[in-house]
Amino acid sequence: MAHDRKSTPDERVALSADRRKLLLGLGVAAGSAWASSLVAENAVADAKQVTDAPASHRADVEQSVPFYGVHQAGIVTARPANGMLVAFDVIADTPADFDGMLRKLTERIVFLTQGGKPAALDPKLPPADSGILGPDVLPDNLTITVGLGDSLFDTRPWLKPLKPRHLQRMTQFKNDALEAECCHGDLSLQFCSNTADTNIHALRDILKNMPEYLLPRWKQEGSVPTILPDADGKVQSARNFLGFRDGSANPHSGDTALMDEIVWVGKGHDEPEWAVGGTYQAVRIIRNFVERWDRTPLGEQERIIGREKMSGAPMDGTTETDVPNYAKDPEGRITRLDAHIRLANPRTPESHKNLMLRRPFNYSSGITKNGQLDQGLLFIAYQSDLERGFIAVQTRLDGEPLEEYIKPIGGGYFFVLPGAREAGDYLGQELAKAAAAVPPTRS
Ligand code: HEM
Repeated sequence: MAHDRKSTPDERVALSADRRKLLLGLGVAAGSAWASSLVAENAVADAKQVTDAPASHRADVEQSVPFYGVHQAGIVTARPANGMLVAFDVIADTPADFDGMLRKLTERIVFLTQGGKPAALDPKLPPADSGILGPDVLPDNLTITVGLGDSLFDTRPWLKPLKPRHLQRMTQFKNDALEAECCHGDLSLQFCSNTADTNIHALRDILKNMPEYLLPRWKQEGSVPTILPDADGKVQSARNFLGFRDGSANPHSGDTALMDEIVWVGKGHDEPEWAVGGTYQAVRIIRNFVERWDRTPLGEQERIIGREKMSGAPMDGTTETDVPNYAKDPEGRITRLDAHIRLANPRTPESHKNLMLRRPFNYSSGITKNGQLDQGLLFIAYQSDLERGFIAVQTRLDGEPLEEYIKPIGGGYFFVLPGAREAGDYLGQELAKAAAAVPPTRS
């Protein structure tokens, strides 16, 4: 908590002298001017300085998400206000390099997410920490979630036989205009925390400590707007940059049985044994043509999405949590057959298997070359089967009316490692062990 700073005696003398000079110069009666200058001086002394840090709250900065567990943090844990996805190329020519990379990465993630004091080094050396967060690194609700890309496995013969069954390189969908410089990668790190600075601090720490293993390839930051809870204390879903509530029909991340069904790779899933407890991550950087959207009539916006804009209710409901009844509306008179939510989830017995957990952030990156706002959705979704989840849903969405307002330009598919179960374990250790046991191929 920052406190208002009182001025020192020297500062007060300087302030009063300046004021006196000014007032005399203006020919104002000295007595009354002096009295009012004292009042003003106190107001100045009590006011916050322009460069004082905005106050944070101790309870927020000290918030931490446990690192150890069956699954990695940052997937079903509540999404904080700031997110960042960074994809890397990995430098690891041997199973031993790969093992070293995973151990080091785990060590950094434990430190950054649980907090601590960076080592004090000889000033002749670069400092151990960038210093952005001050002398103590506080967790600030940070999670760092590690995923592995298809290219990591495909280019290394000792990893290739261990590749998760559905992992593949993201291909172009009909409405995509993928830009090579923000696609794919050997490894993804999803940073989520209360503040953008904590995410940046964590990224800089990893880059500084792991240059021999990780080369950054692309990065996208995002955030979600905070909103006031309703009068009854209920919190609704956050809004995306189209102004609609995003997350209304997301499967409940607190429902562990449902998460086991749709998010986590389980024992019976015909995946390599090391992958149990992991999940597939689909990342898409989707530009929104917000200027065009803002000039589209409200009724048309709502028909395109299939929900009321302010309440988030489906077209046949009154509150955000109401469930649309498409069976009663087979011709799409209430909710258009090509509305975003109806195509994404037709709510038939067959479409249940396509459910996924969405965890998106809004991004705002600047101005495009043709003078438009570069804003959009950093779409991130988790599912136990990439083809049944994201790929099936995106294929159903191909050609939707919303496409006139959105353009996917980047992203990638990654397999999120299972969690490190207890202190001493490291992320991906089962995979590293299995890779070391893969017999060398004859070239
Ligand atoms: C910029 C792009 C997108 C925007 C603006 C957007 C917006 C929305 C909105 C406003 C909703 C309704 C509220 C909710 O249930 O969350 C929604 C629902 C949904 N969206 Fe998107 N979305 C986008 C991209 C995608 C993509 C790429 C996918 C997957 C391929 C997707 C899948 C879904 C699903 C599964 C639902 C829930 C449908 C239901 O169960 O009723 N969305 N989206």
